[in-house]
Amino acid sequence: MQNISNISSAVAKKALVLISFGTTVAETRRLTIAAVEQQTQAAFPDYTVCRAFTSRQVIATLRERDGLVVDTPAQALQKLQHEEYTDVIVQPLLLLPAEEFHVKIIAALAAFRGVFPQLHVGWPLLALTDDLHAVADAISQQFPALGAQEAVVLMGHGTRHPANAAYCALAYIFDDRAQGTFLVGTVEGYPELSHVIKQLRQRQIRHVTLLPLMLVAGDHARNDMAGAGADSWRNRLVEAGLTVTVKMQGLGENPAIQAIYLRHIRRAIAGNSAANFSAAVAC
Ligand code: CO
Repeated sequence: MQNISNISSAVAKKALVLISFGTTVAETRRLTIAAVEQQTQAAFPDYTVCRAFTSRQVIATLRERDGLVVDTPAQALQKLQHEEYTDVIVQPLLLLPAEEFHVKIIAALAAFRGVFPQLHVGWPLLALTDDLHAVADAISQQFPALGAQEAVVLMGHGTRHPANAAYCALAYIFDDRAQGTFLVGTVEGYPELSHVIKQLRQRQIRHVTLLPLMLVAGDHARNDMAGAGADSWRNRLVEAGLTVTVKMQGLGENPAIQAIYLRHIRRAIAGNSAANFSAAVAC
């Protein structure tokens, strides 16, 4: 017969920490981050689902302006440690395994090595090649009937980190499929909008739908993509002679994208942890 303490220590306490950059825009947060959290909780009912943001600026704005408290990754893990969780899965809702992933997530986890009997990290959205294909599927399914002179232009964030190459790989996959024209540009990386405009001219496109290639339709989507300024993507495309439709929708709203995150969580639970690949970069 087991005594009480043995019984309680044998019970696994499981948590899933979903980590995004965060957004101060409440509406898109509800439609994307909260929607992924709800799907995750429904798919993994024996896990406690927790939220953390990597952006200290977003966290501070939400606290000061809205009275909404969101943890950093380290704070979320400290709470789980105090509550004696045993199995912790960290799933980034980031797109790339770039700076935020390595510096804000993988490095933060280093302090918790050995704290939890099980600690695994899922891959971001655009990490492995089958993810790129799945994301291309998820996006092209949203636009089943593009005309010959129509294109979808995806606005990614972009980064100086080598993981930026995933944008080019995704663009290559879209081209390879030849299921309509899907072009990829970035705000802060390569390719830029000027490259996209060159492609649009070469392909004789006249109408463009703009869609954020980002989890949320937040500040970048509202300002860089669709803002009133002359240098917004919408206005530069109009200036280039195209008609433009804006789809103010974060990727996190797309059920097929949500399903990819759930698949990454399943893989992390099975022990296929992104941290195994990232340890060298984190140290
Ligand atoms: Co930014």
